[in-house]
Amino acid sequence: MHFINLEAQYRAYQGEIDAAISKVLASTAFILGKDVDVLEASLAEYTGAKHAISCANGTDALMLALMAIDIKPGDEVITPSFTFIATAEASAIFGAKPVLVDIDEQSYNINPALIAAAITPKTRAIMPVSLYGQVADMDAINAIALEYSQKFGHKIYVIEDAAQSFGAVYKGKKSCNLSDMACTSFFPSKPLGCYGDGGALFTNDDELAAKIKALRVHGQTARYQHSYVGLNSRLDTIQAAVLNVKLKYFDDELKRRDELGARYGELLKNLDVVTPVTLPGHSHVYAQYSIRVKDRDAVVKKLAAAGIPTAVHYPMPIHGQPCFKGLGYVDADFPVSALVSKEILSLPMSGFLTLGDQELVVGVLKPVF
Ligand SMILES: Cc1ncc(COP(=O)(O)O)c(C=O)c1O
Repeated sequence: MHFINLEAQYRAYQGEIDAAISKVLASTAFILGKDVDVLEASLAEYTGAKHAISCANGTDALMLALMAIDIKPGDEVITPSFTFIATAEASAIFGAKPVLVDIDEQSYNINPALIAAAITPKTRAIMPVSLYGQVADMDAINAIALEYSQKFGHKIYVIEDAAQSFGAVYKGKKSCNLSDMACTSFFPSKPLGCYGDGGALFTNDDELAAKIKALRVHGQTARYQHSYVGLNSRLDTIQAAVLNVKLKYFDDELKRRDELGARYGELLKNLDVVTPVTLPGHSHVYAQYSIRVKDRDAVVKKLAAAGIPTAVHYPMPIHGQPCFKGLGYVDADFPVSALVSKEILSLPMSGFLTLGDQELVVGVLKPVF
């Protein structure tokens, strides 16, 4: 069984994907180019954001967003303590301080009620993560950012890390179009994945968009004129060609993920496991279908013995990572993150998971609980 069945997905679209890649090979235009333009227009249309700017990967997208607001050493960036490393990393790499905030126990996203206490006059941005495929509470987060922007007289930007939530809906609007900027990843296992690394930024702000477009090509604003110190972070044309094919079928896959998520919930209903909660006004794209179990190691062993792959997203919160020991946080500062990191377990999930495989997973879990 596959944890994420990229093989079946490729087989389903193989003719179109192979043809799209061959076309790029024949054109010999390998970087940016027409397929990238088409993709960016489609991404903007899909999310509703005015600008979609592709780049080399999701981590670069986060870095480019912070570069666009001139992040400086000593600035502070608020981000959850339970997530993938990238948001804290993107801040720290510029000498900014990641200021961590605990998560909500139901959604696993940053707890908006705890953000105000973490804001200081040095706060430049809040980077919520829409973890596992459900959008963070962006209305509450935007409101806090606005309140403190007015209080301090400088803008506090909200940058959604939508690496796992592309396609998710929050109160009628799409992830990536809910704050000043948003960043996504097209890493192969993401809901919309390419065949290598890829990413994109989204904004409705013309000035930020123009700056990001320059920043992803060495800060270049005209040929060999570098207005900013930037990155080389362009999307390969082949990746755009793959994404242009996959995007056509993306909503069908999301529908399937939604059905599978609901079915997992139904099948696991009476067992002693915590299943994901889709909050009112939200959809869930299940980048991961993550449950919580008490004796995780034993459960993983049982599933592995039956040939069922699992993953742990994430076994160690950000505050426990060796590279962030210097921040001086302890588990007691983030009790929900500490608890969830010990119990969380992701089960096989993708648009191509079969009902039979899903029953197999639940069949192994049932006698355990
Ligand atoms: C929440 C989150 N943020 C950022 C990233 C970084 O994306 P990438 O691997 O494309 O750099 C990932 C993916 O790994 C992620 O899951």
